Amino acid sequence: MATHLFTPFRLRDVTLRNRVGVSPMCQYSSPGGLATDWHLVHLGSRAVGGAGIVFVEASAVEPRGRISPDDMGLWSDAHAEPLARIARFVESQGAVPAIQLAHAGRKGSTAAPWKGGGPIPDSEGGWPVVGPSPIPFADGWRVPEPLDTTGIASITRNFRAAAARARDAGFRFLELHAAHGYLLHSFYSPLSNRRTASSQAPHRAGKSICTMSQILSSLMASYSCRRRLPRARIFCQGWPGIRIGARSPSFVTASLIRSKHRSTAS
Ligand SMILES: Cc1cc2nc3c(=O)[nH]c(=O)nc-3n(C[C@H](O)[C@H](O)[C@H](O)COP(=O)(O)O)c2cc1C
Repeated sequence: MATHLFTPFRLRDVTLRNRVGVSPMCQYSSPGGLATDWHLVHLGSRAVGGAGIVFVEASAVEPRGRISPDDMGLWSDAHAEPLARIARFVESQGAVPAIQLAHAGRKGSTAAPWKGGGPIPDSEGGWPVVGPSPIPFADGWRVPEPLDTTGIASITRNFRAAAARARDAGFRFLELHAAHGYLLHSFYSPLSNRRTASSQAPHRAGKSICTMSQILSSLMASYSCRRRLPRARIFCQGWPGIRIGARSPSFVTASLIRSKHRSTAS
């Protein structure tokens, strides 16, 4: 039977050598949010193995957005440095280097899976979490502080800054984590978003996806207008199978794709 799996796949200026993609997979192994040699080998070996695209795991855009204390981050230039090394190596092996940006929202401040998972107190390195409404993820979990307009704007800026760092570090494909109950997801689920029109002014709709669209439009603006990188596209679930894996029905993948030849354009 004919298969397309090992045929190239083109998305604007980015061509994957095949349709095998390595999903972002949290390793919970980044002290201070920094990528280590573990990540170089873990991701680099997948590129050597022949994958078409290799994603760096969910990378927090601010420390508060980590799931666990040793999550990957991209909230400073120092974080970009070891990631740039990984992007260079992945690309040198013929795979497209990709990264996922994330904010854990009310599911932050938890222990690594092998330490039992679940919420951890400040005394064990935990931190206050944020969300659309003061509703914890589950009994005994932290109650998120509801984000006001200023808080949303600040997180949006952090997504933008991290996206710019990812671009400058050599990543050619950016994904926003908007699933698994993390911050963006929590804004478009009525289970976690009980905001009313007045509580989230100046946004129009009560249970809207305002944060998601704010962040997206902000990133689109910075990628495709200000930076003159007309490479921005949004894909929804159902687009050809690069991201292989089961998703919740409400999952939305938002991907910004850029040309490797335009990284210094301004
Ligand atoms: C160890 C591990 C870490 C994961 N980390 C992430 C992540 O950082 N971001 C994400 O969107 N999904 C993450 N996932 C979900 C995977 O990307 C994938 O969607 C999921 O494993 C379903 O695909 P599968 O059916 O091929 O396993 C993770 C999965 C595993 C097993």
